[in-house]
Amino acid sequence: MSTQNTAASAASSSNRIQQHRRYLMCRPEHFTVTYSINPWMEPDRPTDTAKAVAQWEELYNAYLSLGHEVELIDQVPGLPDMVYTANGGFVIDGKALGVKFRVEERRGEEQPFMDWFAANGFDVVVPQEVQEGEGDFLLVGDTILAGTGFRSVGDSHREIAEVFGREVVSLTLTDPRFYHLDTAIAVLDPVEGPGGVEKANIAYLPGAFDEASRRILEERYPDAILVSDEDGDVFGLNSASDGLNVFISPRAHGFERQLRERGYNPVLVDLSELLLGGGGIKCCTLELRGAR
Ligand code: ARG
Repeated sequence: MSTQNTAASAASSSNRIQQHRRYLMCRPEHFTVTYSINPWMEPDRPTDTAKAVAQWEELYNAYLSLGHEVELIDQVPGLPDMVYTANGGFVIDGKALGVKFRVEERRGEEQPFMDWFAANGFDVVVPQEVQEGEGDFLLVGDTILAGTGFRSVGDSHREIAEVFGREVVSLTLTDPRFYHLDTAIAVLDPVEGPGGVEKANIAYLPGAFDEASRRILEERYPDAILVSDEDGDVFGLNSASDGLNVFISPRAHGFERQLRERGYNPVLVDLSELLLGGGGIKCCTLELRGAR
């Protein structure tokens, strides 16, 4: 029996295929915490910008050393949260939907991100409804999972369905510590596997969602990795994946084990300083799909 199990997990690990990624990141040269727009941010607590930059460089280098491409946008002084590029837009097939922040403190980031997309060959769509980009929109296979409850409004889910012509599944977040969808769901296999076999899968934190959303997730992703509160609390789910390598916090020990059991390769990157702003690995990473 146990031999069979070992064989099965070995087989599943050999099926994991690394996919090339192109990301947009922002070196946190002006990172600090001067306001509080989520429960993690305490302006009275000192931040160390040099440490934030050093930790960020580790993530940047980890992506490059695994063969991924990383584009950079300059951080605008006075916009300390710009380092969280996941909130800069949502990009599929060379089309970039800009963002419209719920929070006044970040509205200054909207134009710089749209300018960057335009300057880099993307078709820019200016949003009408309030939403915070890939922080709340996650592409899983052909479907966009869309979060609401704290930042992005429900109407933005209709808008994004129109802009990208994809199925959009709305999910409601209920715990203020997990205020963006990418703090509660990690997309592990975003595309179809070899031979067109749909193997898109996710990991999620059940306690971050309302009952109805939990039911949707259970139904759609019966093989999902359910992450413990302990691992969720250290931002374990705020991770990026290339289908094989999953970039996660070194403190998410249980999640690290779960990933290994499924044949993924966890890559541990500590962004503790950036967590003082309420962001982690995924928040610092925006995926650029299409365009050159
Ligand atoms: N301080 C930022 C905010 O509250 C953190 C954003 C984190 N980004 C994310 N994609 N979850 O808006």
